[in-house]
Amino acid sequence: MDRPNLFQVILGLLEPWQFMLVACSYIPSTISHLYATSSLSSLLSWDAFQSAWFSKFWAWAGPRIREGNGPRITALLEGRVTGAQVVDEVVGEPISGVVFDIGPGLGYWVDLYARTDVPINDASDNVRQRGGKSKGITKVYGVEPNAQSHPGLRKRANAAGLDGVYEILPVGIEDIAGETVVKKGSVDAIVSLLCLCSIPEPEKNIKELHSYLKPGGRWYLYEHVVVKGYGPMQLYQRFVNLFWPHALGGCQLCRDTEKTLREAGPWSKVDLKQPPIEPWHAVVPHIFGTLTK
Ligand SMILES: C[S@@+](CC[C@H](N)C(=O)[O-])C[C@H]1O[C@@H](n2cnc3c(N)ncnc32)[C@H](O)[C@@H]1O
Repeated sequence: MDRPNLFQVILGLLEPWQFMLVACSYIPSTISHLYATSSLSSLLSWDAFQSAWFSKFWAWAGPRIREGNGPRITALLEGRVTGAQVVDEVVGEPISGVVFDIGPGLGYWVDLYARTDVPINDASDNVRQRGGKSKGITKVYGVEPNAQSHPGLRKRANAAGLDGVYEILPVGIEDIAGETVVKKGSVDAIVSLLCLCSIPEPEKNIKELHSYLKPGGRWYLYEHVVVKGYGPMQLYQRFVNLFWPHALGGCQLCRDTEKTLREAGPWSKVDLKQPPIEPWHAVVPHIFGTLTK
């Protein structure tokens, strides 16, 4: 990757502030929406207000992020990602079976589940035949506690042709056990896309999710994480994070999610890295790839 020029570095450092400014621009419309829908109690509770505000903002941000990252997440679910890079051939197991979709929000990614059931290419058929038969997704549980997101999530799942396949569990990870008969050790795949930054008690909840995976089950993820390696950038990220969670629905910038995932339990394979395309001055760096139990 070419070395970024000074202008690009400054723009990159300012990006989170621009994102927060856009989020703040949704405060007036959130207040008027809550007032018009007689949800006055939500105006008096910070948590309820923040949920409503974040949902409004994410209706702007989510589709933009989805558009920019669609091809790489498609490749991830098709087993065409290694070393955090998209490759042409299938190098890992494509998504199949019973899936936990963690924090799907308004459902901007759910159409991808409908697409992965079709043969992908010759190499993919080889992978499928190794398992003895063509595999596909049989069930997806969307673990989403924010009730404001459920109508949009349901609408997008149905539009993708997933009615009967996609079921919303209207709880957080911490309450899955009380909401479904799905047994621990029985889930084929977990998908988390930009949501582990927002969950409470990440160590406990990520461990809980690990316990649901069956041996050989895969966790497909794309998450933003703490800056590693470069001291001044770590400090700058911590400074931005003084403001960021308040404007972005509680999202935490400085989580070491890779460490938490690696320590959640035993894995037979971890293929997880920061995409090499991300520059040194990324204030919101990511990890991308899969873990196999
Ligand atoms: C930044 S949004 C991302 C939404 C979606 N993944 C996307 O990319 O459009 C984070 C999501 O995590 C969800 N979330 C928060 N706490 C959670 C929990 N305890 N369990 C599951 N999801 C949670 C939020 O409700 C929200 O939908």
